[in-house]
Amino acid sequence: IKEDYATCAEWTARHIAWRISAFAPTADKPFVLGLPTGSTPLGVYKELIRLNKAGKVSFQNVVTFNMDEYLGLDSNHPQSYHRFMQDNFFSHIDINPANTNILDGTTTDPEAECRRFEEKIAKYGKIHLFIGGVGADGHIAFNEPGSSLSSRTRQKTLTQDTIIMNSRFFGGDPEQVPTKALTVGVGTILDAEEVLILASGYTKARALHHAIEEGINHMWTISVLQNHPRAIIVCDEDATDEL
Ligand code: GLP
Repeated sequence: IKEDYATCAEWTARHIAWRISAFAPTADKPFVLGLPTGSTPLGVYKELIRLNKAGKVSFQNVVTFNMDEYLGLDSNHPQSYHRFMQDNFFSHIDINPANTNILDGTTTDPEAECRRFEEKIAKYGKIHLFIGGVGADGHIAFNEPGSSLSSRTRQKTLTQDTIIMNSRFFGGDPEQVPTKALTVGVGTILDAEEVLILASGYTKARALHHAIEEGINHMWTISVLQNHPRAIIVCDEDATDEL
C-alpha cells in the first residue's frame, strides 16, 4: 500500500526494471513480460520509459504478451490496444517490435488466433512477470464476472458494466465500444511465475475487498490470485477504503 498513485506507479516500474535486470536476459533466454492496458498502467509506462532512456533498464531481450484486445478493432484504431501500446510504451523504448505480441482483433478465426497466442507463450516456457490492472467489478484482463477460473485465451463478451466504464475512451458513447474482446484466460494469468496487479482510487476499493478479504469466487476473478504463490497487489490508500 502506497500513499498515492504516483508512488504505486513508480514502485511497480522499479520492480519490473529490477526483475528484468536481475534475470540478465539474452536473445536466447529472454525475459517474458505480460502487459496490460487501461489508465492505471500509464504512470508505470512513463516511469519505465524514463528508466530506459536513462540506461537503467533495457528491453532489447524482453518479449511481451499483452492481456487482451477488442474484437473488431484494427491495430490503427485509436482505441485499439495495439495503438495504445505503441503510443504509450513500445515506440519510446528499445524493444524489438518483433518481440511484442498482441492478440489480433481483426481475426476472422478468433479460436485459431487465441490458440496461436497460447502456443506462442508456451514456446517461451512461461511468462515471468504478468502486470495487470483490475476492473471495478474485479475483472482481470477481460475475464468478466463468471469467467472460468481455469480459462485460457479466448473470445469473451463484455458485460454492460465494462462497456459503460470503457465508453469514456470512445467519446462517452457505449454504442461505440466493441461488445467482444479476445483475452488471456484466468488460467493463463495464473501460469505466470509472478503476477502484479495495480489498483488505484476508490472505484477499485470493492474489487480489492473481494480480492483479499472474501473467498475465491469466479464472480470476482481477481480473487483467484489468493491461490497464486507469487501475487503482489500494489495499491494506493484510496483503493484500500473497503479493507
Ligand atoms: C479494461 C482492461 C483491463 C483493465 C481495466 C481497468 O477492462 N481490459 O485490463 O484492468 O479496464 O482499467 P483502468 O485501469 O482504466 O481502470
